[in-house]
This record gives sequence, structure tokens and C-alpha cells, in this order.
Amino acid sequence: MRKISIAIDGHSSTGKSTLARQLAESLGYVYIDSGAMYRAVALFALRNDLIDGSVNEAGLIEALRDMDVSFGLNSQTGRTEIHLNGENVEQEIRTIEVSSYVSEVAAIPEVREKLVKLQREMGRQKGVVMDGRDIGTVVLPEAELKLFMTAAPETRAARRYKELLDRGEDITYEEVLKNVRHRDHLDSNRAVSPLKQAEDAICLDNSDMGLKEQFERVRSFANRIL
Ligand code: C5P
Repeated sequence: MRKISIAIDGHSSTGKSTLARQLAESLGYVYIDSGAMYRAVALFALRNDLIDGSVNEAGLIEALRDMDVSFGLNSQTGRTEIHLNGENVEQEIRTIEVSSYVSEVAAIPEVREKLVKLQREMGRQKGVVMDGRDIGTVVLPEAELKLFMTAAPETRAARRYKELLDRGEDITYEEVLKNVRHRDHLDSNRAVSPLKQAEDAICLDNSDMGLKEQFERVRSFANRIL
């Protein structure tokens, strides 16, 4: 069976990573969470006092040169997890604090340049499922299957709210909804590689779709081109 690349883009909290993981596991492909890379850079900025209300762009750009953002395999789960300068930060990048600043960090052209280069290197070999905001348009424009996922902001906020509560975060639904809308706005309106559907992407609105139905539908799209 031939190997392909699958690009999954879309709005925040549409379940891109869940679908991407399911697809990667079912096909024996590598899953690459490009959002985790932007989150790792935002975590670096927070930890190094490069965010004080807003992001210190010049300081962060300077620090990028020596910053190592990579993925490591968790041998217990078999999953790839994000590493920042050699430290596994898969849990630390998922806080609402990181979510609050990540889109500002991701709008800095030098940050995108560094991470897009790494993502292209990882995607060069076929047999990858990569999710993000600009995968089908910029990172892997040659991907054989492109999906664009969306859902109503309230549905997405409710899903993210539940996840954060399960993780013990002290947060309200309204704060999460505000963050989802804020990220949508920043991601869709930034100058470099804004979030938009690739012309050849299949749009999937999963406001009223269960995970199983969604997976089966996408797997059938993949089967048609494999
Ligand atoms: O996918 P996730 O929500 O974890 O991504 C976090 C943030 O990283 C997004 O809100 C977006 O600002 C940024 N991002 C991006 N380009 C990507 C992936 C994520 O700008 N390819």
C-alpha cells in the first residue's frame, strides 16, 4: 500500500489531534502535533520572563537561535511527545496560561520560519499525519489528503472546558469561550500564514458528529487514495 501525507487544519478545539492520532494509529503513520511546537515556544517565553502582558518579540527572536524544539517517543504509550531543550513538556504546554499567549507567539514571522522548517523536515517522508493551522496551505501543500475541521465556538469551548476541568484547572466556561474566540481571531487575521482552508481540503463541521462517525468518514476518504 502506498504511503501518503495527511494534513489536518482547522479552528482551536475541533478535535484535530484526536482524529490525527486515530488516523496515524490505524495507518501505522507518525503523528506530528505542530501546535505543540508553538506551545513549547510560548512556554519558553513564559518561563524566561519574555511575556509581561505582551510578548517581548525581540527577546524571543534572539532566544530562538539556541532553542531546541523536538519530539521524543514515550516508550510506555508509544506516542510522540514534545520536548523543549531536551525536557519533556507535553503536560506543561496544555495550561490556559500557555493557551492565552500561544497565538501571539505564533504570529511572529521568525517563530513560524523556524518551526515550519522543522515541520517540513519531519513531513518529508510520507506516512505522516500532521495537524495545525497552515499544514495544508504552507507546510505540506503536496499532502494527498487535506482536511479542514470546524465547529461552533460554543461547542468547541464546552469540549475544551471539560478537558481543563478534568485536568484540575480552575477556570470558567466563559473564560474558555473567550480564549477560543480570541485565538480564532488572531489565527485567522495574522499577516503570515493565516488559518484558512486550502482549496483542495475537505471541510468537516463536527458540531453534531460523534468521534466514531468522524473517524470512519475520514478513514474512507483515506482508503480511496491509498
Ligand atoms: O493546535 P493547538 O490549539 O495546540 O495550537 C496552539 C496555537 O498554535 C494555535 O492557536 C495557533 O495560534 C498556533 N498554531 C499555528 N500554526 C500551526 C499550529 C498551531 O499558528 N500549524
